[in-house]
Amino acid sequence: MPASKDEIVAANRDAWNDAADRHRAHAQYAALLEGFATPGFSVLDDTLTGRLQTIGLRGKTVAQLCCNNARELLSVKNLGAASVAGFDFSEAFLAQARELAAAGSIEVELVQTDIARIPASFDQRFDVALVTIGVLSWMPDLAEFFTTARRILKPHGILVIYEQHPILNMYDSRGTQLQPLPDESYFKAEPLRFDDGLDYWNEETYEAQPCYWHFHKMSDIVMALLHAGFSLEDFEELPHNVGDYYGFENQPQQLPLSYILVGRRES
Ligand SMILES: C[S@@+](CC[C@H](N)C(=O)[O-])C[C@H]1O[C@@H](n2cnc3c(N)ncnc32)[C@H](O)[C@@H]1O
Repeated sequence: MPASKDEIVAANRDAWNDAADRHRAHAQYAALLEGFATPGFSVLDDTLTGRLQTIGLRGKTVAQLCCNNARELLSVKNLGAASVAGFDFSEAFLAQARELAAAGSIEVELVQTDIARIPASFDQRFDVALVTIGVLSWMPDLAEFFTTARRILKPHGILVIYEQHPILNMYDSRGTQLQPLPDESYFKAEPLRFDDGLDYWNEETYEAQPCYWHFHKMSDIVMALLHAGFSLEDFEELPHNVGDYYGFENQPQQLPLSYILVGRRES
């Protein structure tokens, strides 16, 4: 186990950069390039689209924390946001984001940074901050993460989290069928080390840089948000898969597979 938070973040960044070429070579990437060449293209599902429409995007400045190739952020711009900015520590994925944006001549600001170190020039710049699918478990420190989210939002700005449910940390993410018994405790304190790669598009394993995934309980997430100075405006646990857990959907005894949470910066 790396000794410090900084070492964990550095290891994770190397692992993400390593995975980027594999995603770039995937048919999904070609489909995104083609998709964004069409005006108005969006990859957002009905749950997130509906929520963003209720909040209203017209005239809004929107940030995405851990934007990866920015496919969701570019969709937000296409849905009518005034301006969008994406933050991620992986230069290799941000290069793909620039290419996707260029395919549709979509204006986007892309910033390579560890989330905890977003420059102060972005403080209070955004009306809406977005966190989606597969982000929170990469964060070694939720308090720091939500403090950053609060810092970049304008007073009373809105944070939308649309994520995989943390109960899924108990199950192997590459399991396509619901396993009868979980592999891990929901209360696991140490991060899980992966060294077989982050290629969740091809679902191929390879000898990779080790990286570290954290088991934050739902109560940890909600309490860290409140302690960082957000009020809770809405929170719903959902039965549909937003990641790789397709085989877990439509079960008679349904696990929660995702959730949407809306917080507001208090002052
Ligand atoms: C699973 S991906 C997000 C995928 C995105 N929601 C989508 O569906 O396309 C997680 C992203 O978090 C980024 N990331 C992880 N830890 C980070 C950190 N400490 N600072 C900045 N970016 C980070 C990774 O580079 C990666 O692009």
